[in-house]
Amino acid sequence: MRTILVFVSISVLAAAHACCAQQEAAAAQCSVKYATDSQLLFGDVFEACKSGCQPRTDDWSQGCNPAVVPNPLRYGTCRPSQTQLVLRHLSGQGDFAAMSRFSPCTLHQHLKGRTLWLVGDSLMKNYYLALRCFLLDFWDHAKGECAPTPDPALHRAIYQAADTNISSVLGSNVITDVPRCLHLVSGGRVCWVHCVRGEEFAGTDPQAPGLLPLLQSSGVAKGRDVFFVNFGRWHYFNCLGLQEDTYRKSLHQLGEFYQATRSSFPNLIFKVSSHDHTACQQGQQAARAIKDKCVPVSEGAYPLTLGRTVASIGEQVLSRYGVPLINTYNATVALHLGHIFHPLGEVQDCLHYCSPGIPEYDMWGMFKAMQALSIKPLEPQTAGVTAAADAAAATAAADEAAAAAAAEPAAQACVPVTDTIPPPGWSYYYDSKFRRGGSAAGGGDVAQMRQDEWDVLV
Ligand SMILES: *[C@@H]1O[C@H](CO)[C@@H](O)[C@H](O)[C@H]1NC(C)=O
Ligand SMILES: *[C@@H]1O[C@H](CO)[C@@H](O)[C@H](O)[C@H]1NC(C)=O
Repeated sequence: MRTILVFVSISVLAAAHACCAQQEAAAAQCSVKYATDSQLLFGDVFEACKSGCQPRTDDWSQGCNPAVVPNPLRYGTCRPSQTQLVLRHLSGQGDFAAMSRFSPCTLHQHLKGRTLWLVGDSLMKNYYLALRCFLLDFWDHAKGECAPTPDPALHRAIYQAADTNISSVLGSNVITDVPRCLHLVSGGRVCWVHCVRGEEFAGTDPQAPGLLPLLQSSGVAKGRDVFFVNFGRWHYFNCLGLQEDTYRKSLHQLGEFYQATRSSFPNLIFKVSSHDHTACQQGQQAARAIKDKCVPVSEGAYPLTLGRTVASIGEQVLSRYGVPLINTYNATVALHLGHIFHPLGEVQDCLHYCSPGIPEYDMWGMFKAMQALSIKPLEPQTAGVTAAADAAAATAAADEAAAAAAAEPAAQACVPVTDTIPPPGWSYYYDSKFRRGGSAAGGGDVAQMRQDEWDVLV
């Protein structure tokens, strides 16, 4: 992995000495020590931990062991040559040196005492799984994954707000994952909430509340929390085009929601969709995707403007409402070789990106967006001091002060979540398909269903 440095220019290397005071300070205070010459962001966490580490032999850690290939706990790992290719591509960026030094200590320091809500489709799930490995030593492996609330009725309500009965452009439905969280070792959480369609994010119908309004109004989310969200993919397909109306409308709804709630929940970051390299068959009108290899954009037989339009509509609409966003679309266009291989066979998936690669680059983008929002580590002695003039900031700061005032955040109760499948009564689609005399029953069919989902490239 370290061989990638040969691609980095001398001037970038020189900048590396100056760039990383923040990383060094975080490392000095960190309860976990890593080998100092490691590329923690790009795959070295598993091997570089020296002290304060979570165990390395349990399933959670083995799920992050780069030597385990294919890895059942990962969405898709990169071959070493793929990671190098992505890094070579990214090395032209001005802050590459700082990115290369980005450490889980720094991210954890900023997340301590907060919940990071990761909300989105399978691309965001891929990101969650990568982040779970990056933060491997900062969450309690003995607990595993926990429900976002110990209240089962509320857990179900969150699920139902995130779940959708609207099919994709291709006519397929989703089996929404049960939401789950990692409990960080010194308080705080990372929560994964699977929510694929924009309609479900900020809807205002009291009978079918949007996910974000529910998380906020129920008290499960706090003002100091960070929401990292994306939708887009379930509104288009390279070979069929864009469902622009629902996509645009959902973006407006999210923007309006942010405007209405930002005084108490200021930390929302939207990530626009990356490029999808799914190629279409020449001369076919319908949704025929080519699945055996990923090709450069110029050979994909889909409109080159499509992915760019999805990204730029997101940016145009949300920036009108002042929603902070990250847009790494351009950096992904050339990376058709940075995608994953299907875990069930050597078929390439040209939508999801392999790891370490683009998901890790997105972690850096998220961290930069957090800094731009002035999300700082919660400190009891400083929280709340600076913000008196601004009512909006004052509310958030008061919340932060309250959070920090608790000397040690009380350990949150963990109700373990061990299955991604919704329990009976949670999902209309799942139950009608697999329960109550639905067309199929039993685990084998669920596996087939997952395969079908994969086949339509959700
Ligand atoms: C979900 O969609 C199906 C098919 O479009 C429809 O028959 C059903 O009533 C819907 N269910 C709910 C709970 O909205
Ligand atoms: C991405 O590239 C396009 C075309 O080269 C350019 O017009 C646009 O400004 C770029 N967007 C960003 C966010 O860098």
